[in-house]
Amino acid sequence: MAVLVCGGAGYIGSHMVAALIEKGEEVIVLDNFQKGHRNAILGGTVYEGDVRDKNILNKIFSENTIDSVIDFAADSLVGESVHEPLKYFNNNIGGTINLLEVMKEYGVKHIVFSSTAATYGEPKNIPIKEEDDTIPTNPYGESKLAVEKILKWCDKAYGIKYTVLRYFNAAGAHVNGRIGEDHRPETHLIPIILEVALGKREFITIFGNNYETKDGTCVRDYIHVMDLVNAHSLALERLRMGGESRIYNLGNGQGFSVKEVIEVARKVTGKEIKDVVADRRAGDPAVLVASSNKAMDELSWVLEYNSLETIIKTAWDWYKNHPNGYNY
Ligand code: UFG
Repeated sequence: MAVLVCGGAGYIGSHMVAALIEKGEEVIVLDNFQKGHRNAILGGTVYEGDVRDKNILNKIFSENTIDSVIDFAADSLVGESVHEPLKYFNNNIGGTINLLEVMKEYGVKHIVFSSTAATYGEPKNIPIKEEDDTIPTNPYGESKLAVEKILKWCDKAYGIKYTVLRYFNAAGAHVNGRIGEDHRPETHLIPIILEVALGKREFITIFGNNYETKDGTCVRDYIHVMDLVNAHSLALERLRMGGESRIYNLGNGQGFSVKEVIEVARKVTGKEIKDVVADRRAGDPAVLVASSNKAMDELSWVLEYNSLETIIKTAWDWYKNHPNGYNY
């Protein structure tokens, strides 16, 4: 019985593949390698192709005995999604519909789906709970919310059981030092800060210091990629044991401001890390912090790497040894 990981060459997907291999699972990876990296895949059988292509999906499902799917395959840049909404709807919604159609055809009943804090939009309450309003403020969040709704109907009609995982800010790198975060272009806070520490950039731009937060900069909930991936494993186990469909937030419940993240990075790296304050970035909510109590209670999810120092240290270890990311 194999687990199909769609988008398994990406940042979170590759950490998932590593975790499944460590558990002795049979792993099949599908990735179109537009953003993913071949040397990020530490094992399993790899198929190059796109979830929007039924032929490759049919080939995978006919050549292997897939019992579950974990779906990371998506475009995930909030800013880009505002300018190219159709790209996001086509890939993120269209791709998952294709996948569900093939799952239905082959009688595959379990899917763990990557969703996002962006489904909530501008939150009314902090920490954010799963039952809070979902009013996305960008097409990326809208595309993920649309799939969440599609999953609900596929459960009712076809008995496909799902676990939707709404990630907050994934960060850090594998403790084995072999895989980490390498986005092109890089837009995320911690990798950019570490590029400054490495001397690849001159400074980190702080997007706005006039938010209503403790120090005026945006507050986010940074969750270690290893903890994130562990929640997927627990969700998969629960589905395989006959668990019902569920939606869970995945964050560590602590909010850190942009300035605090930079300060911790200075401590961890021992580098100066120059910062420059600029205007706000469009569409950034002031505070996004998760309540992950539901995942902790129902999945018995325990955070292992929840200090920001550890998160940044693992990322720093990866960058120091891979200054050119996966181009080595
Ligand atoms: N930031 C800066 N300077 C930078 C980059 C980021 O100040 O150069 C700030 C942002 O304004 C934000 C915080 O750092 O306040 C974190 O920004 P990221 O770009 O690292 O992450 P986001 O919170 O924007 O995005 C994350 C995920 C998305 C998801 C989103 C949900 O990466 O996939 O949360 O809102 F959609």
